[in-house]
Amino acid sequence: MCGIIGINSSKPVSATIINSLKKLEYRGYDSAGIATLSSGLINEIKSEGRVDNLEKNSLVQSMEGTIGIGHVRWATHGSPNSINAHPHSSQNVSVVHNGIIENSTLLKKFLVSKGHKFKSQTDTEVIVHLITEHLKTENIVNSIKKTLKALHGSFALGILFKDEPDLIVGARRGSPLAVGYGPSENYLGSDSYALKSMTNKITYLNDGEFCIIKKDHVEFFNEDGTKINKKVLELSSEEEKYDKGDYKHFMAKEIEEQPITLKNGIKEYVDSANNNINIYNIPWKKNEINSITLIGCGTAYHSCLMAKYWFEELTSLDVNVDIASEFRYRKNRFKRDSLYVFVSQSGETADTYAALDLCNKNGMKTCAVVNVIESSIARDSEFVLPIHCGTEIGVASTKAFLGQILILYILALKFGSLRSDLDKEKLSAKLSDLKNLPKLVEQTLLTDNKIQNVSSTFNEAKGSMFLGRGFSYPIALEGALKLKELSYVHAEGYPAGEMKHGPLALIEEGMPVVVLAPRDNYYKKTISNMQEVIARGAKVLLITNKSTNEIVSENIWETIEVESTNQDLLPFLLTIPLQKLAYYAALKKGFDIDKPRNLAKSVTVE
Ligand code: M6R
Repeated sequence: MCGIIGINSSKPVSATIINSLKKLEYRGYDSAGIATLSSGLINEIKSEGRVDNLEKNSLVQSMEGTIGIGHVRWATHGSPNSINAHPHSSQNVSVVHNGIIENSTLLKKFLVSKGHKFKSQTDTEVIVHLITEHLKTENIVNSIKKTLKALHGSFALGILFKDEPDLIVGARRGSPLAVGYGPSENYLGSDSYALKSMTNKITYLNDGEFCIIKKDHVEFFNEDGTKINKKVLELSSEEEKYDKGDYKHFMAKEIEEQPITLKNGIKEYVDSANNNINIYNIPWKKNEINSITLIGCGTAYHSCLMAKYWFEELTSLDVNVDIASEFRYRKNRFKRDSLYVFVSQSGETADTYAALDLCNKNGMKTCAVVNVIESSIARDSEFVLPIHCGTEIGVASTKAFLGQILILYILALKFGSLRSDLDKEKLSAKLSDLKNLPKLVEQTLLTDNKIQNVSSTFNEAKGSMFLGRGFSYPIALEGALKLKELSYVHAEGYPAGEMKHGPLALIEEGMPVVVLAPRDNYYKKTISNMQEVIARGAKVLLITNKSTNEIVSENIWETIEVESTNQDLLPFLLTIPLQKLAYYAALKKGFDIDKPRNLAKSVTVE
């Protein structure tokens, strides 16, 4: 992952670099570093942990230089200490890198044989020495060209040169990189978000391209080193201000914002006046699509899995779901009548992007369901459905999940009605229920104390299970993922009906098990499965919806009832207590809720 920034200006740059690094922390927070050129030398300062640690260093505060690069790291090669932090520098060259160099071991051998000395365990350091080596005989453009050719893997780079004090080089393959234009200064950044406080004029580099950034102009090159012209895009100049407000954590705020996320999505995609769906610009005819493949990672994958149940229920399309990192290397049977849907909050997830790229290269129809509309996945998809949930800062995705499943549900309704799988009356009834959903989520959010109370049990146990069937199964997976990533205790999501084929062996006296059993078509079956785990000593937290019918089961440890609605929409409501459970479990442990260990918000390495 990692985030990079570069600034070439006539004013001192260190404070601005630090501010931009704070914005890039969603890409990694294992370490941070900065390098500037001053008095004819490369000065490099790095520290373990957050950007705050780096900022506290008094040397950073007095750092001089009007040209510099900065980095936030998510460790791939080498532990997250200050030696492995970027920038990595020789006497002549300093580099920040986002990506992975797959042939770094071989390159290092070659460079060591040439007398180069390595300080870190990173793959990045080979780039520094390769450029340094080529600069002995070549000019800048040729040195960069030759270096990039030798690298296997992915990279976005920012490079500073001791002997070229008026320029920064940027280069990309596989990892995103943007150039920004300011008044007598220019910038390089992992994305437009990092640059937005400085400029809204942006150029995105394509794979294989590199650039030379001077104070007053930027030159672009293709991989052969030939100069090319690139478009300057003007993004909206409004920089979204997003803070925690009165909440302790962004995650808590983002959980509470979910009714607004749903209201925004419904306002955008539901044509209330005509009781119809406001997606009129699909670029393909209805008979051109007979199957749909949904692809994502992590929570976004769970959204895809959720959508499978809806698409199968509401349309006659064939539906496939795939984890992006698996899809990208399989021998896929690309079918002309397939629509490939890529789901991603950030729109920058490397595996999801690679899967999209593969589909584009095979001439497939592609659609993105994203939050960040300026992202790589949005830019390179034929059709984009934004989820409009606003900035999501907490690494654990909450409002983006609900935003994604809302848009996917609406898309399923759209295809159902386009293909006449769903008649007007049914569509109209489903849309009426949908319009009520934000209110029901608001009410469900009020359940709090009970969840706080049960959360300690999940922390104290050596593991827990989350069970569900049908529509509730993807939500069980999502609940387990939230608990794992925030409270660092093992949690496993499983189809309730599958327990007897193995995992039932894990159940022992007192093990907490969440059972999602809303009153839908699967209710009775799930209740039977619940009894099977209770019989083996599990402490069951049952999550169901309010009903006048009593729950016919004994020995349930705790029950949480969410509001009631039609069975399509129950997954939205079941999600809420699970998000809160994970939040309170982590809160009680005193963990960093918005930035869990070893993770990053945007996963830009494969
Ligand atoms: O930005 P994306 O939606 O593509 O991110 C995908 C996953 O990395 C992400 O959902 C991750 O699983 C979350 N941290 C889970 O809460």
